[in-house]
Amino acid sequence: MCGIVGAVAQRNITPILLEGLKRLEYRGYDSCGVALHVDGALQRSRSTSRVADLEKQVDETGLKGFTGIAHTRWATHGAPASHNAHPHFSPSSDNARIALVHNGIIENHDELRAELTALGYVFQSQTDTEVIAHLVDHMYNGDLFDTVQQAVKRLHGAYAIAVFAREEPHRVVAARQGSPLIVGVGQGENFVASDAMALAGTSDQIIYLEEGDVVDLQLGKVWIVDVNGKSVEREVKTVHAHTGAAELGPYRHYMQKEIFEQPRVIGDTLEGITGVMPELFGDGAYKVFKEIDRVLILACGTSYYAGSTAKYWIESIAKVPVNVEIASEYRYRDSVPDPRTLVVTISQSGETADTLAALKHARALGMEHTLTICNVATSAMVRECKLAYITRAGVEVGVASTKAFTTQLAALFLLALTLAQVNGRLTDEEEAAHLKAMRHLPSAITSVLALEPQIIAWADEFARKENALFLGRGLHYPIALEGALKLKEISYIHAEAYPAGELKHGPLALVTEEMPVVTIAPNDTLIEKLKSNMQEVRARGGQLFVFADVDSRITSGDGVHVIRMPEHYGQLSPILHVVSLQLLAYHSALARGTDVDKPRNLAKSVTVE
Ligand code: M6R
Repeated sequence: MCGIVGAVAQRNITPILLEGLKRLEYRGYDSCGVALHVDGALQRSRSTSRVADLEKQVDETGLKGFTGIAHTRWATHGAPASHNAHPHFSPSSDNARIALVHNGIIENHDELRAELTALGYVFQSQTDTEVIAHLVDHMYNGDLFDTVQQAVKRLHGAYAIAVFAREEPHRVVAARQGSPLIVGVGQGENFVASDAMALAGTSDQIIYLEEGDVVDLQLGKVWIVDVNGKSVEREVKTVHAHTGAAELGPYRHYMQKEIFEQPRVIGDTLEGITGVMPELFGDGAYKVFKEIDRVLILACGTSYYAGSTAKYWIESIAKVPVNVEIASEYRYRDSVPDPRTLVVTISQSGETADTLAALKHARALGMEHTLTICNVATSAMVRECKLAYITRAGVEVGVASTKAFTTQLAALFLLALTLAQVNGRLTDEEEAAHLKAMRHLPSAITSVLALEPQIIAWADEFARKENALFLGRGLHYPIALEGALKLKEISYIHAEAYPAGELKHGPLALVTEEMPVVTIAPNDTLIEKLKSNMQEVRARGGQLFVFADVDSRITSGDGVHVIRMPEHYGQLSPILHVVSLQLLAYHSALARGTDVDKPRNLAKSVTVE
């Protein structure tokens, strides 16, 4: 999703801006651009290709400067075309006084566009961003900092912006509301970016701007005013952000690498855990866990499926009622708040706009006990929640989440055990048995990864299909949903998941010989029921592709293809089964020749609503 980098310095900042964009590439984008102050004028370069292409263009034109901004765009308003790429200029390309980049969505852009058009501004793009550029130009009073403070009062919606003016060559002004933005403080130079990773290697002195902040960046000065226009000091933190994606090594794609990293990152996530202790979730967690009667989980996409799995664990092990809500729905519906609720957000990035907004909504309803399960320690989500468990999946580059999901599951299982312990529902023997099973996960996942050759054979067949069904029951229903999401995200095969018992209530109508039906068949209490559901599929000619536990007594036969899971894993079984589904999706996509790590239309970090 969109990314911002800006700088004001006494050296050529083009390499810093481009390097920052490269570090933000993992978020997903469809165009990019850079603008600089050059000899009293504003100049820019934009591309609908990769940042590497932009870099080539910049090298060819020799674009250099001391003050500038850069952007990766993920299209919302207007197609991914060069004229829609940021930075946007105002009043026009030939006579640019203002250059601006923006993340987020301006909801009143139509109204502002009409107003600015009536004032004579001619729009070059379909974006909501160009509206802000013209608005700033129209309101410009010779002091960009003051102008931006006035201009943002006219904006409704979410934004992080960075802007500079032709008349003020050593100044970049930035502002945020609803979209993240950070400042990197340097020696006689300052930077702004949408996350600290963009500035890795440039500045580790980071200020996290708060909602409504406007910041004035000059060579030796960082001046921040809050939403009320009052001067404020914000803490400068030393942040050792990751320096970007690791090397691919022997793998063809980051997704494949990340699937194979799962034994290690699960081990890292659980490292040092010698017992179930509330403090693993942060200081004061015991008191919070004691005070709550229920859990509300808020998340999107794959993280939502992690939450859906956790519902089974928490209700069964800790006997605490759990409600799992899709963040983008929860924030807009009337719900019945209970202050004795533990609000748990789950997010790989910690930047997902819908999840952040849902969290704020829950807090506004009086639910103050907040915990996040998050993979990025420096993210907005971690800062906004009282308690946090940081998964240690490492940087996840592939848009399709894999290792972040399984580490979330490990953390959520630990949460279920902890709530059980706090409520006096976990004996020492049970605790020891669960922890033993968790510690064995890395080696159990390694055995699942060894199934890759068998899964590749299935994937060749899947690659020729346009539809697939995924079935699971109980704990494994959310895993079926996750398997279907993985397949559709990267292979573009239409896939739906159902609790197997629901098949006969409608989806069975879809089953023909052309329909592969992936079935997750752990040897649990529902296995006999599941076998009946499989018969329903076979009777209609459907082809079953079954991941069956070693002791489930399901065998290959006519129209029934079985891959045997190495071991039966009880309550932690979803963590193993999902790995085989990740491999199936990966190899199906590979066989179809799609862009596995950057599937069409998707972004890694969804920072707009
Ligand atoms: O960073 P988050 O976990 O908050 O992201 C939530 C979803 O956008 C994300 O899981 C998305 O569904 C992935 N592309 C799934 O592979």
